[in-house]
Amino acid sequence: MNFEFTEEQIMIQQSARDYAQRELIKDVIERDAKAEFPTHHVKALAELGFLGMLVDPKFDGGGMDTVSYVLAMEEISKIDSSVSVIMSVNNSLVCYGIEAFGSEEQKEKWLKPLARGEKIGAFLLSEPEAGSDATSQRTTAIDKGDHYLVNGVKNWITSGNSASTYVLIAQTHVEKGHKGINAFVVDRHSPGITLGPHEDKMGMRSSDTHSVMFTDVIVPKENRLGEDGFGFKFAMKTLEGGRIGIAAQALGIAQGAFERALQYSKERKTFGTEIFNHQAIAFKLAEMHTRIEASRYFCLKSAWLKDQGKPYGTASAMAKYYAAETAMFVTTEAVQIHGGYGYVKEYHVERLMREAKLTQIYEGTSEIQLMIISRAIANI
Ligand code: CAA
Repeated sequence: MNFEFTEEQIMIQQSARDYAQRELIKDVIERDAKAEFPTHHVKALAELGFLGMLVDPKFDGGGMDTVSYVLAMEEISKIDSSVSVIMSVNNSLVCYGIEAFGSEEQKEKWLKPLARGEKIGAFLLSEPEAGSDATSQRTTAIDKGDHYLVNGVKNWITSGNSASTYVLIAQTHVEKGHKGINAFVVDRHSPGITLGPHEDKMGMRSSDTHSVMFTDVIVPKENRLGEDGFGFKFAMKTLEGGRIGIAAQALGIAQGAFERALQYSKERKTFGTEIFNHQAIAFKLAEMHTRIEASRYFCLKSAWLKDQGKPYGTASAMAKYYAAETAMFVTTEAVQIHGGYGYVKEYHVERLMREAKLTQIYEGTSEIQLMIISRAIANI
């Protein structure tokens, strides 16, 4: 077992860290308060090659491995998960889905601008009544010969407004259940697409989340990804990798909160000494650190499995479950260690706590991850 990173992985980690600590930190509190989309940061991440980092260079991507992706996601998320969620959805759900399952023509047309970060993508699976239960898709994409006609509503769409390219999951053959579902790449500016209002979220407030309505939207036949009826498996395979990204995001949130709490505990004095010298605080920090380190191993293991071409669906569910639970635990403790200061915006940990909550919900709730893991252990 080799626990050392390569020189290239360390360089990528350092470059993400530099950008986050130097640039993201400057306006993160203000953007969160105003729920303002981080346009200039997304542009900068594109220039760093972080929006298509996993894509093969022949499609204008960075050709980096999944371990590097975890390292970069952790660093960005230590400061700002509104930015890292945009990066994660673009990389793991949109670029990966098109690269793994699209045709050469689709990769030329749709993947290249996404990999260069000139355009960003959104992944449209969830619906008002199909969140965890993803087979119950109500949005229809009816085969009309030379095109599909799409009608329905998608919910909680990250980058719903800012994305130019949608990867859409919809039901084509209602009678076939999940075997009748298809995946499509859709131009967000197609006639008949309208958006609901910007969701006023608890955390990750500067990423834009919308519902998306489709009314008689014409999607060309050549935009279907994979064989007819492959859409549900497309979504499941794609989410397996997405969960590595969100696990790494949760890891970064936890690490960011831990570092702030540790520093504070060595500065703040009560009863004549720094609070770190009280065992009640030192033990909290020791437990936070231990759980974070365990989350890191889960994230890196699932990334490594993916890089080796081995199955990683259960490992990524475990990583996402454990890292999200850890992020919630660690950020709550970080607020507690800060006392009253933890409850105000200036010290960042209240924002990290709000961000942590979302990692337990999206790309499959913690309960969904346990469902995936329990199905896997049933076969042991
Ligand atoms: N890979 C390939 N195929 C898979 C698969 C996988 N990981 N998981 C399931 N399948 C296949 C099964 O083999 C089965 O196929 P067959 O009928 O041919 O055997 C089919 O898919 C149906 O599988 P299940 O019976 O297991 O389906 P289910 O209804 O029990 O649901 C589930 C499984 C794992 C719970 C799934 O519904 C799920 O992942 N739900 C959560 C959805 C989710 O994560 N949503 C997040 C939205 S995206 C988002 O948040 C993005 C964002 O903007 C940040």
